[in-house]
Amino acid sequence: MALLPLDAGQIIEKEVLAACRLYKVEQQAARKVFTELWAAFPDLDEALNAGKDPCRLAAYKQFVKKARKQIYYQLRRYKGDSDSFARLCELLRQNAGKSPDSGPVAQIVEQLLAAHVSTAERTPYYKDFYSSLFAAAGPPKSILDIGCGLHPLSYPFFAEQGKELSIYIAVDKDPQVIEVLKVFSGFVRPATLVPVCADLEKDAWEEIMPPGTARLELALALKLVPVLKRQQPQALASLAKAPAEKMLVTASCQSMTKNRQIVRREKKALADFASLACKTPQAPFEIENEFGFFL
Ligand SMILES: C[S@@+](CC[C@H](N)C(=O)[O-])C[C@H]1O[C@@H](n2cnc3c(N)ncnc32)[C@H](O)[C@@H]1O
Repeated sequence: MALLPLDAGQIIEKEVLAACRLYKVEQQAARKVFTELWAAFPDLDEALNAGKDPCRLAAYKQFVKKARKQIYYQLRRYKGDSDSFARLCELLRQNAGKSPDSGPVAQIVEQLLAAHVSTAERTPYYKDFYSSLFAAAGPPKSILDIGCGLHPLSYPFFAEQGKELSIYIAVDKDPQVIEVLKVFSGFVRPATLVPVCADLEKDAWEEIMPPGTARLELALALKLVPVLKRQQPQALASLAKAPAEKMLVTASCQSMTKNRQIVRREKKALADFASLACKTPQAPFEIENEFGFFL
């Protein structure tokens, strides 16, 4: 006896599970994409109504391909939806003047860290991150954080070793990230946090750095080299000339979009960057889901 074709709900559920095996997506988010797209492919319902299996149609292949593409592009964004990001920034602004350790400010900072993919995936490991950083490089007096994202929000400005820091220059090409950091800079005094909106490919270091700034002690290029290698390879030469004595370069162990390890590929990206910068990797750096070295 021939098997009855699955109904629309069952077909969608099958594709949701397959997408969740492949991509780092929540079932609910994947279900929303597949359900909304189903309506855009009327041939599939027509086949079902005629008692045929829609999964055999060419339109079905397109339906799955399009849904997976949408999921992939959603996962490739560093930040969640920009309205809630702007709302958190506004909330932080409204709490100006309060202690950064106070309940509301700490909570907003936590939510912002969770709203950017790079800091969200580092969140469970921040203690390890900073103990490894300080053990290898000592507590720095000055930091140049390049392609910083929201990472400066995690810096332990008021902890014993963090207090050594006097200036933190944070550079990113994303104006929304820079806006959050400008608001946050009011909370870290007496340290000076200077957020700068700049694109490494277009802007020279003389334009990026505040006038009169001397060479800084430590540059951070966290999870940046692989991104530049893929999207703006020309910018790597500029990164190599960052005005700092030492640089920590890192990469993720896991793909941002897919459920797979990418250590080998990212190791090569970091090693190629070290060659481009004519430097030898020094102390290795490692936490649970991120690795790299000092140059
Ligand atoms: C993978 S995220 C890493 C964020 C942060 N370093 C961290 O590890 O939490 C890469 C960041 O680099 C920034 N970026 C990418 N290309 C850049 C460029 N050419 N100039 C400045 N920033 C850039 C992006 O806007 C993004 O915030």
